Amino acid sequence: MTLIGLAYNQKPEPTELPTELPEAVPQRGELSRPDEEPPSKSFGLTVAELTARDEFAEWDSPVTIAAVEAALSKLGKVVRIEATEEFPERLRAIRPDIVFNIAEGFHGVNRESHVPAMCEFFGIPYSGSDPFTLTLCLDKARAKETLSFHGIPTPKFAVVENLADLDERTFNLELPLFIKPLHEGSSKGITDGNLCWDRDHLLSQTKFLLENYHQPVLVEEYLPGKEFTCGVLGNGNEATVLPLVGMNFEALPKGALPIYSFDAKFVWDRPERPLEIFQCPARISSELQSAIERVVLDAYRVLGCRDWARIDVRLDGAGNPNILEVNPLPGILPDPADNSCLPKAARAAGIGYDELLQSCLRFAAARQGVELDDSAAATPAVPGEPMLAAG
Ligand SMILES: Nc1ncnc2c1ncn2[C@@H]1O[C@H](COP(=O)(O)OP(=O)(O)O)[C@@H](O)[C@H]1O
Ligand SMILES: [Mg+2]
Repeated sequence: MTLIGLAYNQKPEPTELPTELPEAVPQRGELSRPDEEPPSKSFGLTVAELTARDEFAEWDSPVTIAAVEAALSKLGKVVRIEATEEFPERLRAIRPDIVFNIAEGFHGVNRESHVPAMCEFFGIPYSGSDPFTLTLCLDKARAKETLSFHGIPTPKFAVVENLADLDERTFNLELPLFIKPLHEGSSKGITDGNLCWDRDHLLSQTKFLLENYHQPVLVEEYLPGKEFTCGVLGNGNEATVLPLVGMNFEALPKGALPIYSFDAKFVWDRPERPLEIFQCPARISSELQSAIERVVLDAYRVLGCRDWARIDVRLDGAGNPNILEVNPLPGILPDPADNSCLPKAARAAGIGYDELLQSCLRFAAARQGVELDDSAAATPAVPGEPMLAAG
């Protein structure tokens, strides 16, 4: 029987979180009618509250971990190996035939690469991108340098480590500018305040991000066009783009900017009242769809992604697709009500949740010559014709 190690980080229970939000601030899940003011403006969160509430945004919930385990158990015996301090010893002792990696890591800018690096150290095959690609994509600027070198469009940018350098680094960028922490994901640190129409605001908001996220700030030219997120499955010439997910920012509360902010992702979108923010498949012309698929596959290839990824794309003022960022560890919430983009795109291609996860593992196993329990019987899922239903 194939032994599959499931490597993950599990979100702490709310009671274990370091800081409680004060009473006046609505807790996640209790907010807010969509026609109300965006909470990050109107509830006056303090800096500590803002950072405390998104610290564990990327880790997986017990429900997701159980769903992944159930899906993979059709292909072998799954052993959970939580990416805690005991991970190296347990990995060495268990020595699975292959590790299915969804661990986001905790410490430092190479955190997403720790689990795959340890697998490489012990010579154990694993799913998904390698340590280098995971670290590269977590540094949005270094990833953009690679994209630019290969002529793949991405907004003009600068990296600012301290305020004294701001003017010198950014004088040649055209307003408006959009700023974000360099090494985050899951919309951490992304608020409407990050759009800067003038240099004074650029200064104050850069100061805010530097002081509170303790990492350099990426300053980018703002892309005014439509946004898409694009799932990719597979490797080499067989890598395919799943039906595109178009962002419908009209669904955000009145007055909110057309960006996929932390509030849009985690506060305004609730399972009991989902925000109709995604259209999948996106209703766009076939020319635009091909142009997006081309830059997405080019980005996937030059950044060295493997097995699966989710890539964010936005159109510039001329309507050309630009890469915003590449997520080689894509979010995979199992409940369709949770509005998780990769599972949603897969469903639109007729690929269910279990099949999506099994496909990723099959691609990884095929690359590394690992036999899964039903290897003879099945091949990885290939997207069918997109189904036309939205959502
Ligand atoms: N240069 C930009 N122009 C316009 N919007 C942007 C730009 N960069 C980021 N955004 C908005 O912020 C969101 C989050 O940025 P992204 O780089 O994808 O970070 P994350 O890793 O948190 O998803 C994007 O989905 C988009 O809506
Ligand atoms: Mg993103």
